[in-house]
Amino acid sequence: MDHFLYRDGSLYAEDVPLAEIAAAVGTPFYVYSTATLLRHFRLFDEALEGTEHLVCYAMKAASNQAILKTLAQAGAGMDVVSEGEYLRAKAAGVPGDRIVFSGVGKTAAEIRTALSGGVRQFNIESEPEMQVVSAIASELGVTAPITIRVNPDVDAKTHAKIATGKSENKFGIPIARASEVYALAASLPGLEVIGIDVHIGSQLTELAPFELAYRKVAELTEQLRSEGHSIRRLDLGGGLGIPYARSNEAPPLPVEYGALIKRTVGHLGCEIEIEPGRLIAGNAGLMVSKVIYVKSGEGRDFLILDGAMNDLIRPAMYEAYHDIVPVIETAPGAEQQPYDIVGPVCESGDTFAKQRNMPKLTAGDLVAFRSAGAYGAVMSSEYNTRPLIPEVLVHEDQFAVIRPRPTFDEMINRDTIPAWL
Ligand code: LLP
Repeated sequence: MDHFLYRDGSLYAEDVPLAEIAAAVGTPFYVYSTATLLRHFRLFDEALEGTEHLVCYAMKAASNQAILKTLAQAGAGMDVVSEGEYLRAKAAGVPGDRIVFSGVGKTAAEIRTALSGGVRQFNIESEPEMQVVSAIASELGVTAPITIRVNPDVDAKTHAKIATGKSENKFGIPIARASEVYALAASLPGLEVIGIDVHIGSQLTELAPFELAYRKVAELTEQLRSEGHSIRRLDLGGGLGIPYARSNEAPPLPVEYGALIKRTVGHLGCEIEIEPGRLIAGNAGLMVSKVIYVKSGEGRDFLILDGAMNDLIRPAMYEAYHDIVPVIETAPGAEQQPYDIVGPVCESGDTFAKQRNMPKLTAGDLVAFRSAGAYGAVMSSEYNTRPLIPEVLVHEDQFAVIRPRPTFDEMINRDTIPAWL
């Protein structure tokens, strides 16, 4: 459930009409609902009630500091994957001991920054990385808390570009080698091995792959304990999917996911961490765009929008489906027609939907892309020298621009011309 509903024929974000935001900031723009962000965070938090836990929001999904602050104030930790994300989380007021550092290739500079500023744990992805963390921690005279990410070789049954738990993927160490790698970790200075980490992929719409992975983690916990390691924290990753096509998708709920966690690893007495991103931010954000032209083509009509693939890349990159709805509600039974919904960028890939049934629209009409809060703004680019679109946060009847649209001068003046030109 989210807080984007029609009222008196017009789509609102909480108590603010989207048309009012469009008039104030121009289109296209992203808009997030505070109530939805908090609701989704709390669903996870409540699903793990009764178990010592921390929900670490995977901030790669939507990393504006206003979003981070909203979640952190409600008690969320953060899962970060770069120095930039680490510093952004700190800037939003998240204390180091609530920041988990994930990522396949942490550089020495990144490790140094996190060790100096405080970190809850590093999720180590390889032996060479472990050695670098050990060396830097020793040099700084500190101890780095670590888990090791194991690759359980489980098929997450999701889009190939976002599956991470198969042995052919670049992530983690093969679970079969865990004994050896944990022994190495225990022998290195500057490290404190505290647990195990696993993350098998994103947009999972079934619980079975989680169940397989978590059972393997439970077995591994017992094995590693018998080998003398103190395994007291399990980081179970993110990945729970969301309904993109509301009419016919119903992925498992956080409460069911929480019950699965308790069932598979609850008996081990470990502190549980999870790293959800998409489920917290995805349906808490929309991209609002305006129809520039309606163009009649050969046997099809195109809705040409002012938003494009550089603003929301998911359809071009993952063949992702997003519900697209008119901001002004059409009367029930009003005539519909199929449109190809496209942006103005000169690539055929700049297509949001093909032959999508929509009410009849005309130039100037606003449309909203649902489920665009996660992996939307963060993946946007300035391709075609198109400015990054603004982000707006709504809280009840208030709204605020949380990232303004840059001016063309700001964008153009970032280039520097070499002396020889
Ligand atoms: N933890 C780790 C280590 C991850 O790699 C990810 C996502 C998450 C947590 C959060 O997963 P979530 O709960 O959001 O599914 N750009 C793609 C998604 C990439 C996901 C990458 N890793 C998309 O737009 O679908």
